[in-house]
Amino acid sequence: MSPDSTFQLHTGRSMPAIGLGTWQLTEDTDGSVADALEMGYRMIDTSGDYGTQPGVGEAIRSVGVPREDIFLVTKVEEHEDALEATGSNLRELGLDHADLMLIHRPPRDGAGEALWKGLIEARDDGLTVDIGVSNYSIEQMRTIADATGEMPVVNQIEWSPFGWSPEMLEFCDAEGILIQAYSPLTRARRLDDPGLTEIAADHEATPAQLLLRWNLQHGVAPIPKASQHDHRQENLEVFDFEIGGEEMRALDEMNEHYSALGSLAYI
Ligand SMILES: NC(=O)c1ccc[n+]([C@@H]2O[C@H](COP(=O)([O-])OP(=O)(O)OC[C@H]3O[C@@H](n4cnc5c(N)ncnc54)[C@H](OP(=O)(O)O)[C@@H]3O)[C@@H](O)[C@H]2O)c1
Repeated sequence: MSPDSTFQLHTGRSMPAIGLGTWQLTEDTDGSVADALEMGYRMIDTSGDYGTQPGVGEAIRSVGVPREDIFLVTKVEEHEDALEATGSNLRELGLDHADLMLIHRPPRDGAGEALWKGLIEARDDGLTVDIGVSNYSIEQMRTIADATGEMPVVNQIEWSPFGWSPEMLEFCDAEGILIQAYSPLTRARRLDDPGLTEIAADHEATPAQLLLRWNLQHGVAPIPKASQHDHRQENLEVFDFEIGGEEMRALDEMNEHYSALGSLAYI
């Protein structure tokens, strides 16, 4: 794998294996995103409710990377009309299409079949190339697929060795759904875990790099957020080492369903 490695979506398109998250990247968003794109990031994750869409759009429009080389992910909220919200997100971004539009989270009642139909319409209207979900359980993905005949291409969920789900990984593998790992660095809360630091040291890598590499080796695409330039650079340098089989198993076994957000939404 290399910084421009991609994973295949079940629609046939490829998606960059690593991206930049922008939640709370509200200070100098355009400068930070432009810096990331110049550094080699090709996927940016934002949302209608992050306050970062204007800056993300500004960076994408002004940086010297062709639009078709950038994979822009954004989200509609569960209380919104998905088709309308897709349009308003694009207006805020100042872009004519997204690469991937997600339902940010399932609504309180049901699986969001109406939202999913709205995103299918948005996709068919050319407002987004692919569509997916976030914070969805296996059952909720089955429900929207049963209602429409379409499985999401991506489920964006909280995912780290401390909190993940073998059942979700197996289901997504079988259905060709790609997992995007959010809070892949545990919001920096578990980076000093002794088990993690020990394996990282063996590879002369940092704990953050080990967490990202663990995702990539599971075929999962992490979207770490970093407001600091040096962190962004470090998080992209995860392609020159490989975690061995035994070490992968040791990392897998650290699973305690930990969530930096409070609980894993998809379990
Ligand atoms: N779909 C959803 O519901 C959902 C929910 C949460 C997050 N997300 C997406 O996922 C993205 C990532 O998740 P997140 O922001 O919650 O957390 P995260 O990426 O796990 O952690 C971000 C924190 O880690 C620090 N950090 C970054 N690189 C580091 C490094 N190499 N060494 C040490 N610390 C480092 C950052 O510091 P600095 O900023 O100081 O560099 C920041 O404090 C979000 O930005 C957002 O795009 C989606």
